[in-house]
Amino acid sequence: MTTPLHLLGLDEEALKSAVLADIRARGDDPPHLLRQVAAQSAAIQASQAIDATLQELRALGCEAVYESVDVANAAETSAAAGRVRQHWGQIDGFVHGAGQIKDKLIIHKFLDQFRSVFDTKVLGLKNLLDATQEDDLKLIVLFSSVAGRYGNSGQCDYAMANEVMNKVARAEAARRGDDCLVRSIDWGPWDGGMVTPALKRWFAERGISTIGLAQGAAAFVDELLSAGPEADQTEIILSARRREGDTPRPASAL
Ligand SMILES: NC(=O)c1ccc[n+]([C@@H]2O[C@H](COP(=O)([O-])OP(=O)(O)OC[C@H]3O[C@@H](n4cnc5c(N)ncnc54)[C@H](OP(=O)(O)O)[C@@H]3O)[C@@H](O)[C@H]2O)c1
Repeated sequence: MTTPLHLLGLDEEALKSAVLADIRARGDDPPHLLRQVAAQSAAIQASQAIDATLQELRALGCEAVYESVDVANAAETSAAAGRVRQHWGQIDGFVHGAGQIKDKLIIHKFLDQFRSVFDTKVLGLKNLLDATQEDDLKLIVLFSSVAGRYGNSGQCDYAMANEVMNKVARAEAARRGDDCLVRSIDWGPWDGGMVTPALKRWFAERGISTIGLAQGAAAFVDELLSAGPEADQTEIILSARRREGDTPRPASAL
């Protein structure tokens, strides 16, 4: 997605105002206007973050390519894997970080919401494993969640999906042995991504600390560099340490 020039470099509030002004200038009157403004602004911010990350990586001398693929779609995932092989010759590993949340109590959940949450993780993992079955993988990392370990209100789909990934990771680790490092990381809540400012306030009110972006990235790298490929350590829980003054409450997290 290319960001229109007049929307570049705006902070969140200014961006939302400019997106709203654009919608009005076009004479559009979409249903759920504020939701549309929030969704369009989030997409623009995500696209800018991707561009910035790619530029940083290239400045560090890394060759990086970004492709947008629906991992729940087997054909798209397999085609993307084919393009990677064509470009780099082989696939050595993958990190499955795709995820969605549609938090609602079971009684209010629709099947399509359940499917988009569950399939992104579980079908996504199946498709990635299928698409790389001929590759000599050295690394498989799954972004799971403490919700899979402990459960969480409104997240039956998300908790199930993460726990299935944890179990598949165990099976893959046992099957592949020492040649491939397999980790399923049960992340606690981060200070970003799915954790919106409102959700962050919710966590703060309950004394739950979030993982800073730099801390989380460093913990991720440490985990992979220091880990031996023992199958019994496949599932790892990484969450923020409670800060001084935080009030301990039962954890309920992403
Ligand atoms: N943030 C946290 O506190 C936290 C805690 C525990 C676990 N996690 C896990 O960490 C991972 C990343 O989370 P995040 O906070 O960065 O979430 P995020 O900001 O919502 O990003 C989720 C990413 O998943 C992608 N995605 C969603 N559905 C997809 C699909 N069907 N195919 C391919 N990509 C898809 C999204 O792509 P588009 O933007 O193109 O839709 C987006 O890049 C997730 O698996 C999440 O469950 C996060």
